[in-house]
Amino acid sequence: MNMNEQIIQIFLDHPNQYISGEKLSEELNCSRTAIWKHIQTLKKKGYMFESTPRLGYRMLKTPPEPLDVSRIISALNTRCMGLKIKYLQEVDSTQTMAAEMVKKGEEEGTVIIAEQQTDGRGRLGRKWFSPPGTGIWMSMILKPQIPLQFIHQLTLLISVAICRVIKRMLDVDVGIKWPNDLYINGKKVCGILLESSAEDERVKHVIAGVGISVNLLQKDIPEDLKDKMTSLCIETGIKCNREELLISLFKEWEELYMLYLSEGFAPIRILWEALSICLHCPIQVHTHQGIVKGKAYGMDEMGALMIRDEEGKEHKIYSGDVSLTLV
Ligand code: BTN
Repeated sequence: MNMNEQIIQIFLDHPNQYISGEKLSEELNCSRTAIWKHIQTLKKKGYMFESTPRLGYRMLKTPPEPLDVSRIISALNTRCMGLKIKYLQEVDSTQTMAAEMVKKGEEEGTVIIAEQQTDGRGRLGRKWFSPPGTGIWMSMILKPQIPLQFIHQLTLLISVAICRVIKRMLDVDVGIKWPNDLYINGKKVCGILLESSAEDERVKHVIAGVGISVNLLQKDIPEDLKDKMTSLCIETGIKCNREELLISLFKEWEELYMLYLSEGFAPIRILWEALSICLHCPIQVHTHQGIVKGKAYGMDEMGALMIRDEEGKEHKIYSGDVSLTLV
C-alpha cells in the first residue's frame, strides 16, 4: 500500500472518528507536513475531510466507486445492446459524444457511459443534473429500420424496459409518466432523450440518452430540484449496484427491441399501459396547441395519449408535458 492508501485505510478502520496529525505521522513514520500534503492529494481525488484544531482529521466521504465496465461486458449475453461500451470519467454530454461517433460510422448497440456530465441535456432544452459516480448517464446508438413517424415509440419502449428492470431489482413502486419519465412517490428518477437523423422519412440513426438518478443522496440534490427529483437510493434506502442495473437493462432493452422490430408496437403498448401512472387520473397536458385538461384513458396504436376532456371531447396527444393534477 502506498502512503495515500494507508491513510485511507486508517480512516476506514476508524469510521467517523477524528485522528490527530501527530498520531497519523507516528503510525506512518513521516512528518505532519507530509500527512497534510497527502490529505490535500486525497481531497483532489474526491475524499472529503474535516480538520478541527486539537482533534485532527475526520474522513467525511469517500469518492464513489467507478463502474467496472469489464464486469458488465463479461456478464452480457446480448447480441447487440451494450456490446461495445465507451466509458468516460467526464464528458460534456454523452449525447454529443455519441453523435460524433455515429458520424464516424459507429455500429448499433454501442453505448457511451460517463461518470459525470458537465453539460447534460434534458428534453425541451432543459439541463440534466449529472453529478459524478452516482447515476447512469448514457447514450445508446440505435439504427432501427423504421419510418420517422414511429420514432416516438422507441422512447416508450425504453421507458418500459427501464421501469421493468427497476421494479424487478428493487421492488419499488415506480411508474411511467407520459411519455417516458419514470417517477417514484411523485418525483422524477429517470428521463429519456431521443435524438435522431433521418433520410427520406426513414430513420438513419437514433441516439437514445438515458439518465437514471441511482445513488444520489438527499444532500447531493440541489435546492431548486429537491421537490422535483429523487433517486433510487433515496426512495429505497438501498445503495444500488450500477453494474447489475446496466446488465439487466441492456438485456431487457434488447428483448423488447427485438419484440418491437418483429411484432410492432402493440405488445409494447400493453406493457406501457400497465406501468403508466397517468392513466385514469386527472391530468393536464401542455401542448403546442394549448392546455388540455381531463383524464387519460389509454394509448393509441401509434403511441399517442388519448384524453377525454372535461366536456367529454376526445384528444390524441403526440407531444407535450403532462402534469398530474389533484382534484
Ligand atoms: C429528460 O429531460 O427527461 C431527458 C433527460 C436525459 C438525460 C440523459 S443523461 C445521458 C444523456 N446525455 C445527455 O446529455 N442527456 C441524456
